[in-house]
Amino acid sequence: MANRQPAEDWPFEISPLSPLMAAAVTGFDAATPIDDFARDSILEALGRFKVLVLRNQDLAPAAQAAFTRRFGELEPHVNREFRGNAVPEVHPVNNLDEDGKPARGRNIGNYSWHTDKSYMPRPSLATMLYAVTLPPAGGDTEFADMQAAYAALPERRKTELADIRIVHSWERSRQKNGSRLATAQEILDAPPVTHPLIRTHPMTGLKGLYIGNHTSHVEGWPVDKGEALLQELEDFATQDRFVYRHRWQSGDMVIWDNCSLLHRAVDNYDIEAHIRILNRTVVRGSVPI
Ligand code: OGA
Ligand code: MN
Repeated sequence: MANRQPAEDWPFEISPLSPLMAAAVTGFDAATPIDDFARDSILEALGRFKVLVLRNQDLAPAAQAAFTRRFGELEPHVNREFRGNAVPEVHPVNNLDEDGKPARGRNIGNYSWHTDKSYMPRPSLATMLYAVTLPPAGGDTEFADMQAAYAALPERRKTELADIRIVHSWERSRQKNGSRLATAQEILDAPPVTHPLIRTHPMTGLKGLYIGNHTSHVEGWPVDKGEALLQELEDFATQDRFVYRHRWQSGDMVIWDNCSLLHRAVDNYDIEAHIRILNRTVVRGSVPI
């Protein structure tokens, strides 16, 4: 609901993790069924803090899927490799090769700044990532606040950008980030879509940049000129002053708001020596406006 003030009687404790965004949630068990009040409180807290770190969770995949389903529709990954999983809506995010050995290559696309599934007509509202196995140190995730970055732009610049639409494409994203290229089937499943460059948040009504690695070009502009604008905006919006870095603890489940953030995995551990496994669920969102 636009401009709704979060209630202060949330059924959990909350402590901010940085002056910019992100908060730790304690006294909350995501593995037991939650009522509507708890669900609405989580959504309000997410609107305010953008990243929620639910501490001390113990979540089997089915429980994570059930919790996530309370927030809306789950969708399978466009990458069909994941569809055979025991709980198909729970995707492993890991650095394992076919033999289960740590390796560079798998999920490498996550190391570029992006917002989940922006190549879809209805991109993700929220992503939930639960730590299963963490490396001894590092393996962080960074979040950049696209609403804070937008707010920091000069008024004249905001006006210039107001009506621009951006083409997002899974195929183009895979070309840019060094992953294996999209298959013909994936390209059919996820043809290019356009979204506004300046997105109005579906719940808080705040405006933010809606950009990242899944973008291809600016609709109606020469490709080079559009790519240059997108790069300029991403460089601006991912400066340290707009970024929160999450250092994972065992038992963390992180929920983030894809409408107002970019995120990326950080390459600050020995990917070929240590295993990093997180279980991921995604709530489908609305058409960006
Ligand atoms: C994701 C993602 C980042 C990470 O799961 O969508 O981008 O740190 N993960 O693994
Ligand atoms: Mn992601």
